[in-house]
Amino acid sequence: MRNVISVLIVLISSVLVLSNCAKKDNPDTLETFVPTLPAESYDYTQSFAMVANNFIANPANSFIDNNVVTLGRVLFYDPQLSANSTVACASCHKQQFAFADNKAGSVGFGGKVTPRNSMSVQNLVLNHNLFWDSRVQSATDLVLEPVRNHIEMGMEDFDLLSEKLAAVEYYPALFEKAFLTPDINAERIAQALSQFCCAITSINSRFDQQQPSNFAGFTPLELMGMNLFNNKAKCGSCHSTVNFAAADFPGGEYGGGDTIFGGGGFVDRRGGANIGLESHYSDPGIGNGNFRIPTLRNIAHTGPYMHDGRFTTLEQVVEHYNSGVKSHGDLDPKLRDADGNPQRLNLNEVEKKALVAFLNTLTDEQLLKDERFSNPFK
Ligand code: HEC
Ligand code: HEC
Repeated sequence: MRNVISVLIVLISSVLVLSNCAKKDNPDTLETFVPTLPAESYDYTQSFAMVANNFIANPANSFIDNNVVTLGRVLFYDPQLSANSTVACASCHKQQFAFADNKAGSVGFGGKVTPRNSMSVQNLVLNHNLFWDSRVQSATDLVLEPVRNHIEMGMEDFDLLSEKLAAVEYYPALFEKAFLTPDINAERIAQALSQFCCAITSINSRFDQQQPSNFAGFTPLELMGMNLFNNKAKCGSCHSTVNFAAADFPGGEYGGGDTIFGGGGFVDRRGGANIGLESHYSDPGIGNGNFRIPTLRNIAHTGPYMHDGRFTTLEQVVEHYNSGVKSHGDLDPKLRDADGNPQRLNLNEVEKKALVAFLNTLTDEQLLKDERFSNPFK
């Protein structure tokens, strides 16, 4: 009898230990895992409208509502959206890195690593194409892809996800506030996530602040860098528009209209270019080693760089354009010399430093710590 009792005690205590572990591993049951939100929702619409109404915006990404964005912020930081409740959007899109990651490949829910470099999430309303290969045009179409993705979050069954979230104490009320119904479904999750991503706008860098005074406060090195960027080094011919990205809207140089990518003529290049990183690409991107021309806003904080994160520093990036462009059949004409060979810019050391100094002026310090976009779970 004694033996039976002690076996029982051992059994019961190990069940207790196990269920405690389950509590720790599964935030579903953790009472302390609750977001702290302002009594009245932050205002996101004003800063958003400044960008969406004043520059060439993508209509697919151009509507936000404060309560929907607030819900989206919680979802963005919540690891419960992944299959084993370990990975959130914010695991790979970190605010201090302008919502990019500081690794070449990011770690997903099962420890596997993404084949491409995480992208910064900012000014999506100005992007007409999304992802490195421009395969999606609307943020709402995009945001459930990482949730479902086998490497990233692995949550394939959206009915199951909706049920999982419905059982979390704070979600029904947040959905009610956002959508006037506590019912949770994939469409509403997508709306909220995409509106939060779109709400993240950035047009308050030192570059923006200095523009009205014609850059009177720029150092001589920064001025030299800006001049090189726009002229001799030709950076601004691709990294153009207020977003320092592709002019990929209909009628823009890198987005001709409804036609799809193809060689020559008036075609939609889907915001992409081939910059001669390889002579033979293992990842073709949009096709033939063309990748989207990404924004350079906050670029000092989004390294490593390029679709595969091959460069760690901006100095290495500049050296690529200076001396490293490789020959490729689809190499963008802007990166060729008069004979059609890969360009050699022959920049001297001061000029290279100047380009980097200019890129550093594109940092928006406010974005990196803006409470409205911060983690509500701490
Ligand atoms: C495991 C890492 C990881 C997770 C988790 C993750 N992402 Fe990403 N994200 C990436 C990578 C890598 C890319 C680039 C993929 C590509 O181009 O094929 C990307 C691209 C994006 C882009 C495109 C930005 C642009 O300018 O085109 C958006 C928006 C985005 N992610 C939002 C999200 C949201 C929302 C979530 C959560 C539902 C999420 N991501 C979860 C790694 C991740
Ligand atoms: C022909 C168009 C073109 C020109 C000219 C150009 N770029 Fe780029 N840039 C791109 C494309 C396309 C990518 C992405 C390529 C990839 O990842 O495969 C890119 C990527 C970058 C990145 C990395 C961005 C990130 O998020 O990882 C930086 C930094 C950059 N360029 C700076 C410059 C500078 C500085 C110059 C001038 C010296 C320049 N670019 C000239 C098209 C161009």
